[in-house]
Amino acid sequence: MTATIERAAESLHCTACSHSAKLDPDVALERAVESALRAPSAYNTQPWRFRLLDGTLELHADVTRGRQVADPANRELYLACGAALANMRVTIRHLGREADIAILPDRKRPHFVARIRVGAVRHPTLADSRYFTAIPQRRSNRARFYSRPIPLGVGPSLAQAVEGMGASLRYLHSANTRDALAEIITFADRVQAQDARFRLELAAWLRGNQTDRLDGMPGFAFGLSAPMAALAPFALHALSWTSIRVVRDDELAREAPLLGVLLTRNDEPRDWIMAGEGMERALLFASSQGLASGFMNQAIQVPEARDRVRRLLNTTWWPLAILRFGFGPETRQTARRAVTDVLVRDREMA
Ligand SMILES: Cc1cc2nc3c(=O)[nH]c(=O)nc-3n(C[C@H](O)[C@H](O)[C@H](O)COP(=O)(O)O)c2cc1C
Repeated sequence: MTATIERAAESLHCTACSHSAKLDPDVALERAVESALRAPSAYNTQPWRFRLLDGTLELHADVTRGRQVADPANRELYLACGAALANMRVTIRHLGREADIAILPDRKRPHFVARIRVGAVRHPTLADSRYFTAIPQRRSNRARFYSRPIPLGVGPSLAQAVEGMGASLRYLHSANTRDALAEIITFADRVQAQDARFRLELAAWLRGNQTDRLDGMPGFAFGLSAPMAALAPFALHALSWTSIRVVRDDELAREAPLLGVLLTRNDEPRDWIMAGEGMERALLFASSQGLASGFMNQAIQVPEARDRVRRLLNTTWWPLAILRFGFGPETRQTARRAVTDVLVRDREMA
């Protein structure tokens, strides 16, 4: 993907002043879709569809790929669409244009997440290139992070990326609050493990390590060998799985060099989409600094746990994601569907 985009960008950068004037909007928007696909989404569901016509790209939430048990309000689904939107904006800016984006442009169509057009000429900044380069490098890391401290200034920069989109990233620094959050996370682990519907839904998105499927989560993303990954969907029903997960998540939350909760003032699709864009910018920034990142969202998915997170943070804002940052071991990239699987060029989209 990066190579094609770099080529497109190079061909546009033939002269300092006129490069982006030559940009074909449809080509740029198709490049933006390629980047959108690399966004994170819970269970790697990739809950998006695109329609491109005459210089206008539409991003639609694909609710058929929603998770009715873990995410009945589609909050995480909209968050993922917001992350995809971030990658699109970054790509269009990298190609030397502003991205004109209208979020939820049609009141009557709540799944119509955004309308995107290529806007005015704008010279790409260093930050644009840094974010752009990080798109294929970012991945969710579920390993224990090293104790190596995060450089000063990174925490505030991550928070700033989120604040730029009206959301907030609240860090948990003290051992007491981390312990309390770890306790809520493991409480949520237990609630989910006892829910047969949750286990069934999760099992449907688990994949073997040699899978041809282009969505879902392969075992290697959890550090599993091929034989273990093949067994994973069945192992979910075993009690030992719950205890392993609880011990692991307790460690991950307590040890994270930086642990933050993404919050929004309101709990509506517009807030989720914008927060998703800010979140992805923060994840890209972290990646550009060589930092790994990972989610621990079970405490958001279980309503009682989510209430407890609000009380712990003593806030009226709404928690959307729990994020860990730190230096960590490398992880492999997970698969994505192709542009042709998600992009239509028809006049109508159902
Ligand atoms: C809203 C949201 C919630 C997520 N929650 C979790 C989570 O609780 N635990 C986890 O391990 N990964 C979580 N993820 C990460 C996804 O599983 C991951 O993005 C997906 O599998 C694709 O992998 P990648 O991020 O490495 O590209 C979440 C991602 C998003 C966007």
